[in-house]
Amino acid sequence: MAIQRDSTGEGLMTQARPSTCDLSVSLTSRDSFLVDVRDGLLRDRKELPCKYFYDEEGSNLFDRICELDEYYPTRIELSILRNHADEMADEVGEDVDLIELGSGSSIKTRLLLASLQSPRSYIPVDISGEHLERSAEALARRFPSLLVLPLTADFTAPLTLPETGDPCARRVVYFPGSTIGNFSPDAACALLREIATTVGPGGGLLIGFDVAKDESILLPAYNDRRGVTAAFNLNLLVRINRELDADFDLDSFDHKAIYNREQQRVEMHLISRRAQVVRISDFEASFVEGETIHTECSYKYPIEHFSRLTADSGFSVVRRWSDARGFFSVQYLTVDG
Ligand code: AVI
Repeated sequence: MAIQRDSTGEGLMTQARPSTCDLSVSLTSRDSFLVDVRDGLLRDRKELPCKYFYDEEGSNLFDRICELDEYYPTRIELSILRNHADEMADEVGEDVDLIELGSGSSIKTRLLLASLQSPRSYIPVDISGEHLERSAEALARRFPSLLVLPLTADFTAPLTLPETGDPCARRVVYFPGSTIGNFSPDAACALLREIATTVGPGGGLLIGFDVAKDESILLPAYNDRRGVTAAFNLNLLVRINRELDADFDLDSFDHKAIYNREQQRVEMHLISRRAQVVRISDFEASFVEGETIHTECSYKYPIEHFSRLTADSGFSVVRRWSDARGFFSVQYLTVDG
């Protein structure tokens, strides 16, 4: 159910989710999960799509990652928002439909929404349904006059957005957290083009990304001392065991993050500690000792590379914000009319 606060602010009203949600449910169903896992584990170089990290436990673990000392991106992006939310709101403008991709706990959104001038609606899109519903309810309570329409969906697939009452309202996509870095540059370009189509001419994109930097800063962020990132990575196997009737032995895999200099990306892997055969539903995957499953790429962009990427996707840069060390960048882009 989507959540909307009534205009009197007296209570939460519920309304039926648009039919697009049925589509998203089928896209993230057990069947497509199994197809993706089979496809990934039967390759010569084993890999699993990082979008499957975010079940309930994975989303909670990711929230804990964001609070780690070593994981600087969230802290820095939040500080950029705190320092510049009013300027961002000026660029975004009035009366917009704000669509957030991969909204998670929506903490940054609270800061942004508090500064925006009379936003018409807020549509958080996230693959983790329960997590999304909880944070959407909290946001609806915090902003009683805002139409909050959460959409549980995989935003890497085409989205059909819920009706917000005015088809001509200007749309702005908010895509924080450097989630764009989890796509290959080609896939990122395709996704940005899709976003450009969704917002249309005159529409905007407020996006945050992690800037390329020395690996002495990058590696600890993905190999934290408390092992939270390791638990996040291994939770993917827990999820496969539970949802796909598999028998991964969790003690037989180690988490490892490396920096791939040539590709300018951090890679997360799960490394098999021994030769083993794992059964997953109706198939088996064999591992030799030391073989890895590549579970995530996190691309880090020099500013000028990112500008090329967004220009190739049909966007023009309106304004950029950063921190003093230039570790993270938030940019407001528009689609040429
Ligand atoms: C969601 N995404 C931007 C995070 C990142 O930094 O690539 C996911 C993550 N993986 C390990 N730590 C955080």
